[in-house]
Amino acid sequence: MSGNLIIKNASQVVTCSGFKAKQGKKMSDLGIIEEGAVIIQDGIIQDVGKSSEILKDFNTEGFEVIDAKNKAVLPGFVDSHTHFVFGGYRPDEFAWRLRGDSYMDIMNRGGGIANSVNATRDASKLSLVDSGLKRLDSMLAFGVTTVEGKSGYGLERDTEIKQLEVMKELEKKHPMDIVSTFLGAHATPPQFKGKEDDFIDHIIDMLPEVVEKKLAEFCDVFCEKNVFSLEQSRRLLLRAKELGLGAKIHADEIVQLGGAELAAEVGAVSADHLLQASDLGIKNMAEKGVVATLLPGTAFSLKESYARGRFMIDQGCAVALATDFNPGSCFSESIPLVFALATLYMNLSPEEAITALTINGAAAVNRAQSIGSIDQGKLGDLVILEFPSYRFIPYHVGVNTVETVIKKGKIVFSKEK
Ligand code: NIG
Ligand code: FE
Repeated sequence: MSGNLIIKNASQVVTCSGFKAKQGKKMSDLGIIEEGAVIIQDGIIQDVGKSSEILKDFNTEGFEVIDAKNKAVLPGFVDSHTHFVFGGYRPDEFAWRLRGDSYMDIMNRGGGIANSVNATRDASKLSLVDSGLKRLDSMLAFGVTTVEGKSGYGLERDTEIKQLEVMKELEKKHPMDIVSTFLGAHATPPQFKGKEDDFIDHIIDMLPEVVEKKLAEFCDVFCEKNVFSLEQSRRLLLRAKELGLGAKIHADEIVQLGGAELAAEVGAVSADHLLQASDLGIKNMAEKGVVATLLPGTAFSLKESYARGRFMIDQGCAVALATDFNPGSCFSESIPLVFALATLYMNLSPEEAITALTINGAAAVNRAQSIGSIDQGKLGDLVILEFPSYRFIPYHVGVNTVETVIKKGKIVFSKEK
C-alpha cells in the first residue's frame, strides 16, 4: 500500500526536519516552509520545498494532487506510548477515583491492571483484533500514523504472546504502523506476590521467544514502589538489551524511585511518565540522550501533578509526548487533549509540543531515520489541518483540527468523507 501524491500551496509545510531526537532549545525548530509543497512517490517523500520552485518543471502525471491552500501540513503524529490492545473496561475504577481512592489503592486491592489482565486472558484473539481495529481508526483520525503498543495484560506466556500477535495481525489489516513492546513486567500476578524476583526470572525466560518470533522491538517494565524495584528492572532490561531489544521504563510515575537515573544508566531509548523524576535523573537523561516521554493525559486522569516538561527541556532533554491510551490510568487516545495539557499545564510552547509528537516521538521508538519529519527519503506520512497554522492545534482546545491523514502517500482519513 503506497501512493503517488503531491500536496501544493500549503500555507505552511511544518517539516520538523531532522533524523534524530531534538534536545532542549532545538525542540523549537520546526523548519517551516511557507507556500510549500510535498512530493510523495511510491509512498516515499521525494521532495519538499516552495510550491513555485519544486513543482515548476515537475510532470504531475500519475500523481494525485491536493491543493492545501490556507492549510498547514505536518508529519503524521507518532504516539509512542500506548497499551491499546486489551479486553474489558474499568469505568467503575474511574468513579472510585473521583470518590477519593488512589490508583495504587485500587491496584493493591486486586483491581487496576489485574482487572484488565483477567479480561484480556479471557478475550479471544478475534475480539482483540476487532476492538484494536476500532481503536486504531480513532487514533488515525487524530493524525497518528505510527503507534507504539505494549503487551502487559497477560503476565503469563500465552496471553502476553497473544497480545503481541494481535498487534502483528492489526498491522496487516490497518494502515497504521505499529511498534510492539513487551511489557510482561507490568504487575505481579497473585501466585508470584512477594516473589517478584522469581516473576522477573519468569519474564526473562519469555524473552527469547519474543525475540526469535520478532514479536517486539522493545522491552518495558513498570519500575515503581510496590511493583518492580530498580534492581529487578535493571536485571530485566539488561537481559533484554543483550537479546537485541530496546529498553523502555515506566519510571518515577507515582514515587521518586530513581527510574530516570536507571534509564540513563542502562541506555534506555526512553523513560516514560517521569512525574516524580529527580533533578539528577533529568540531568542524566539529557546527557545520555534518553527520550523523556511525557503522558499528560495520565496525570490529568489521575489528578496528579504534571511531569516537569518545561524544566526537562530547559535542562537539555529530548521530550516526547504520548497518550498512554489504556483502560485504567488514561482511557483516552485524544491527541488534542495531549497538546492542550502539554502547552497549558506543562508550559511547552506550541513548537515544542509539535516536535514532541513528531520527530521526538519517532526517536522514542527508534524510527527517527524513517518517520517523524517531512524530509526526503522518509515515509510519506502526513496530516493536513483545516487551519493555516500548526498553532491552531493547541489553541483549538480539545478539538480535532486534522482534516486529512496520508499514510505512505495514500489518503487514509478525510473529514469530508
Ligand atoms: O502507563 N503505570 C502502569 N501502566 C499503565 C496503566 C495500565 C493500567 O492501568 O491498565 C500506565 O499508566
Ligand atoms: Fe503506560
